[in-house]
Amino acid sequence: VIGTGRMAAAMMSTFARINVNVVAVSSHDSNRQQKFAQAFNIPPSKDDLDSLLQRRDIDAVYIANNNTEHAATAIAALEGGKAVLCEKPIAVSAAECERVVHVARKTGNLCVEAIWTLFLPAYRRFVDLAQASACGKPDHLYCDFGYPVDRSTSPQLFAAQGGGVLLDRSVYLIALALRLFGPAETLHAQLDLTDEGVDHRASLMLKHKSGGHSQLSTSLTSLRSNIGVLACSNGTLQLGEPLVGSESISLRHKAPDLGRGYLGRRRRLTGGLRQNPLVRRLKRSLPNFHREYHSYGAHPYLPQLEHFLKLMEARAVESDIIPFELSMEIYRIIDWARAGNKVGVHEGRGS
Ligand SMILES: NC(=O)c1ccc[n+]([C@@H]2O[C@H](COP(=O)([O-])OP(=O)(O)OC[C@H]3O[C@@H](n4cnc5c(N)ncnc54)[C@H](OP(=O)(O)O)[C@@H]3O)[C@@H](O)[C@H]2O)c1
Repeated sequence: VIGTGRMAAAMMSTFARINVNVVAVSSHDSNRQQKFAQAFNIPPSKDDLDSLLQRRDIDAVYIANNNTEHAATAIAALEGGKAVLCEKPIAVSAAECERVVHVARKTGNLCVEAIWTLFLPAYRRFVDLAQASACGKPDHLYCDFGYPVDRSTSPQLFAAQGGGVLLDRSVYLIALALRLFGPAETLHAQLDLTDEGVDHRASLMLKHKSGGHSQLSTSLTSLRSNIGVLACSNGTLQLGEPLVGSESISLRHKAPDLGRGYLGRRRRLTGGLRQNPLVRRLKRSLPNFHREYHSYGAHPYLPQLEHFLKLMEARAVESDIIPFELSMEIYRIIDWARAGNKVGVHEGRGS
């Protein structure tokens, strides 16, 4: 385990759940390294990261240090022959991400970006339903994700290097949009920056090459609706709140077409009922959708860990849920949003 922060601690209970044997922890700070090892019964060691990466008894690393260090740490681990599960964002730019992918391909070692949401049963089912046209042809994805965070408790989110809402939150939504619609063709980005120039609010409008649209908004400063809705030709598919961590999907089909004309019996009957406020209120209180519940079990990070372990067993180099191309496209879009923001609106991919 590389890193000793909140996420590394959270993953320790997930590792324990499926008997992953954590043999070492690495930190920049030897005190934190020892304290973390003690807290989670990891054998004590004063070795630095380079020495740990030489150890033959370590098969894989989980990287949860600061965002600015992810790419370099992943590259060092891959070159040391380890499989890598790296927290999002795996890189802070497209160029960095491409370097990681290049080394993973060159060394043939597994590398997966831990965008845990995409591995959740509800997300997998959501993508399957969309691909099977369960509500008709997918057309428009709307996702809204955010809750206010305090700068004093989460200073890293506002750091000039590696901070910002794009890297911390938009990553999840862009990843889902790419799973559903594939690569993007045009982007309109609206970013709001702190005085230090860090994005804290982002609205992205993507048109995908496949024709689909995605409207993705994220914030570090306000409580959002935290839902995701995929509008399709015959209805909508919705990921229930909280969007990041969702365990439910609602399917709503459009009302049957009553045909043309205004004299049909059914049309006359529904028209009459609609004039009664109580009937309208009763109708609103009845569910007009079908809901499916897909639990992730005891820990939200368990599905991604199980997926990673299966890939290790199969000696795979990349994940089919988050393939390298998907990770690289995320950071191209983020670079693109940042570049576009400097000049207002940016359209077209350019060269
Ligand atoms: N998947 C998710 O749901 C999720 C959720 C939150 C975060 N993340 C990702 O996981 C990564 C780590 O996030 P985090 O929330 O764990 O961040 P964090 O608590 O700020 O920890 C990040 C790193 O800061 C260092 N650190 C820890 N305590 C410190 C202290 N008291 N003073 C100075 N440095 C300290 C540690 O590195 P060293 O020990 O090496 O110095 C630690 O690995 C981020 O990339 C984030 O995007 C993912």
